[in-house]
Amino acid sequence: MPYSCIRICQKGVKTRMNKVHINASKSYDIMIEKGLLSRCGSLIKNVCKAQTICLVTDDTVNALYADTVIQSLQAEGFRTAKFVFAHGEESKNSTTYLHLIDYLAQNHLTRSDAIVALGGGVVGDLSGFAAATFLRGISFIQIPTTLLACVDSSVGGKTAIDIPAGKNLLGAFYQPSLVLCDPLTLRTLPDEIYRDGCAEIIKYAMITDAGFFEQLGQQPVKEWEEEVIKRCVEIKRDVVMQDEYDRGLRALLNFGHTIGHAIEACSHFQISHGHAVAIGMHIITKASEKLGFAEQGCTAALAHILDSYHFPLAIPYSADDLMKAALQDKKREGDSITLIIPNKIGTCSMHAVPTENLFDWIQNGL
Ligand code: NAD
Ligand code: GLY
Repeated sequence: MPYSCIRICQKGVKTRMNKVHINASKSYDIMIEKGLLSRCGSLIKNVCKAQTICLVTDDTVNALYADTVIQSLQAEGFRTAKFVFAHGEESKNSTTYLHLIDYLAQNHLTRSDAIVALGGGVVGDLSGFAAATFLRGISFIQIPTTLLACVDSSVGGKTAIDIPAGKNLLGAFYQPSLVLCDPLTLRTLPDEIYRDGCAEIIKYAMITDAGFFEQLGQQPVKEWEEEVIKRCVEIKRDVVMQDEYDRGLRALLNFGHTIGHAIEACSHFQISHGHAVAIGMHIITKASEKLGFAEQGCTAALAHILDSYHFPLAIPYSADDLMKAALQDKKREGDSITLIIPNKIGTCSMHAVPTENLFDWIQNGL
C-alpha cells in the first residue's frame, strides 16, 4: 500500500517520505525522499544479504554522487566495487555489458551479492540486464538520478541493451529489490534532460488521469516533484501488477512511443527520447481526433501543456520517413501494429492498425 509521512532529516529540514510498494514476481518498495542517498546503505541492508556490492554508474553521475553512495554502503559494512562507463545511450551496448560482466567476475561477486545502479535509464537498463544474467541472476537495487528514471525506467523490471539491429532488443524482465529515489539529485540535471522526464509524466496523465493532467498544466512539475514522482510510480505500479510481462495492458505505457521511437531514429538520436515522445503523443492525438476516435479539443489541450513545458512540436520528417522507421518497431506483430490512442484526456485504448494504414494515421497527425 502507498504510504507517506513527514520526517526530520539530519539537518533539521522537514522532508516527506513517500513509499510505494509493488507486488510483482518480486515485491519491493520504491522510496522517494530528499536526502535518501546518504542513508542508502542502511536501506539496502534491510533488503539484501550481500557482502559485496558493485556500484554501476556513468562518468557524469560518478563525479556527482558515487562517493556519497560508496561511503554509505561502506559504513554498513559492505565491501564495494565500482564500475564506471561513459555516459550516453551509445554505451548501452554489448561491449559495455560484457566489460561489466567480466568486472563482476573478476571482483568475485557471488549469487548472494548485488549490483546498485546509480544513474539514469541507461545505467539502470544496462545494470539490470547484467544483474538478470550474471550467475543467472543476482540482486539489483536502482538509485535513479534522472526524472525519467525516477518516474519510469527504474520501476517495473524492464532491462535491456541495444544491439546494431535496434534499441532495447536484448533484454529481460527482472525486478529490482528496492528503488531509492532522492529528488535532490535532480537539481544537477540539465534542463533538457529534466524535460525528458516531464514528457513521460504528461504521458501518464494522458493515459490515466484527467485531474492529474489539469494539475500539471497549472503547476510546473518542479514545484511539486515528490508528489508527481509518487503519482507516476503508482500509475506504473498499477499497470505492472496487472501485466508484468507486457502481454496486454502494459502497452498503454507506450502512448506516443511508436511514433516517438520513429522520430528518434529519423533524427539519428539527435532528438531526445522525451522530446520525441512529446511529438509522438501530439501526432497520434491529432490523428485520433481527426479520425473520430478522440474527443474534440484533446489535441489543443495536449499542445497547450506541451508548449508550457517548452516542447517544440515541428519536425522535418515526412509521413513516409516516419512510417518506414515505425515499421522497425519491436512492438509490431505480423501485419499490424498496436497504436495507443487517446479517447479523451485521461483515457486511452489500444488500437490494432494494419501496417498499410499506418501511413494515413501519421499523415493525419502531422
Ligand atoms: P541517461 O541515463 O542517458 O541520462 C541522461 C544524461 O543525464 C546522461 O548524460 C547522464 O550522465 C546524465 N545524468 C544522470 N543523472 C544526472 C544528474 N542527477 N545530474 C546531472 N546529470 C545526470 O538517460 P535517461 O533519459 O535517464 O534514460 C534513457 C534510457 O532509459 C534509454 O536507454 C531508454 O531506452 C531507457 N528507458 C527504459 C525504460 C524501462 O522501463 N526500462 C523506460 C524508459 C526509458
Ligand atoms: N516504459 C514502458 C514500460 O515499462 O513498459
